[in-house]
Amino acid sequence: MTDDVLRRELFALPEGLVYLDGNSLGALPRAVEDRVRTVVTEEWGTGLIGSWNRPPSAGPGEGWIDLPARVARRLAPLLGAGADEIHVGESTSQALFATMVAASRLRPDRSVLVLDRTTFPTDAYVAQSVCRLLGLTLRWCDGPGDSPDGGVAAVEAALDDDVALVSLTHVDFRTGALWAMPEVTRVVQEAGALAQWDLCHSTGALEVDLAGSGADLAVGCTYKYLNAGPGSPAYTWVARRHHDDLDPPVAGWMGHTEPFAMRLDHTPRRGVGRLAVGTPPVLALSALDAALTVFDGVDMAAVRRASVALTEQFVAGVDTLARRHAEEQLSLASPRDPERRGSQVSLRHPHAYGLVQALVARGVVGDFRDPDIARFGFAPLYVSPADVDSALEALAAVLAGREHHDPRYAERHAVT
Ligand SMILES: Cc1ncc(COP(=O)(O)O)c(C=O)c1O
Repeated sequence: MTDDVLRRELFALPEGLVYLDGNSLGALPRAVEDRVRTVVTEEWGTGLIGSWNRPPSAGPGEGWIDLPARVARRLAPLLGAGADEIHVGESTSQALFATMVAASRLRPDRSVLVLDRTTFPTDAYVAQSVCRLLGLTLRWCDGPGDSPDGGVAAVEAALDDDVALVSLTHVDFRTGALWAMPEVTRVVQEAGALAQWDLCHSTGALEVDLAGSGADLAVGCTYKYLNAGPGSPAYTWVARRHHDDLDPPVAGWMGHTEPFAMRLDHTPRRGVGRLAVGTPPVLALSALDAALTVFDGVDMAAVRRASVALTEQFVAGVDTLARRHAEEQLSLASPRDPERRGSQVSLRHPHAYGLVQALVARGVVGDFRDPDIARFGFAPLYVSPADVDSALEALAAVLAGREHHDPRYAERHAVT
């Protein structure tokens, strides 16, 4: 293990680009390019159906059918969890549906789901649908904001004996505000409810310790800080103590204890594997398997230290620029305390969309979230302190030249 986590050479990033959007879509690991080419041309092209068991030039246990378990082993250290507690497949939204239904079935005499008002919209949509389906009630709690208790009081205020599940997005996608996972989990469980974490904006950039936090369930995507590519499969984590009672809503043949027995009755696999539904997405899983190799030998505590240093450097620079251009009303939307912040810095600005577009034109990529947020994600494996300096220089030039007011940036793209 080393404290130097920067490994930009492992990524196929364009020369000179400052990529601060790894919290939306991670950069391409070079290993993914090679792996996908091999899987397509050799494993699929030559090995054809035999690759389910053993692709050409692969070893035993390296069949496509073993991919979900292999990926789970790679994810385990990044989640602070056992590989046997992780299922990989589907999208985060689908994973949320499965876990919200399964969690309600684990608490059959309770009828309330609690979500934070600052949650990612898909979490809210799925929860609303689950409530309609199962006759449950959705209750909102406040987000953690920048409160020093990391949101404990906000969650406590929403708890009572009816709450089955509290499902929270660990890092607020808009502001980067971070829940205090172990403390919040404790108060949720003291009230007899289950605690679920959406880790989309956490894994790969923060130290995540699911076992240590005592949480019950978690989901997360792999296309942000895990760099597995657009639409790559999500993961679901379920604490081992719930495995025997886990009753997911979609019983597919891959979650059957003997899929190739082809029986009409469904006997779920033991453990988290019963969350599997249909044929695993081999190309996407292979890309994910290869993408995770960039974390080989990387200490996640060191990644978090590097992330804090990068966001602190950016915040300090933005503060200086905000003072210099007071008329611009540029302000920090993220918590000022790095302990209460994920690996992103969000800025508020009346012309945030134009600001982001003007920066993109200068080779500094962030993104925009409605109505007034410019977001910048810091992936410590490929973003350096020199990149932060470049981003701040670009921001200074944009503000000085009022480039964000350029009419070219008034029209919004479909994906912002
Ligand atoms: C916190 C969070 N949850 C869920 C999602 C949606 O994930 P998916 O598109 O994999 O369903 C996102 C997407 O950005 C997200 O940021």
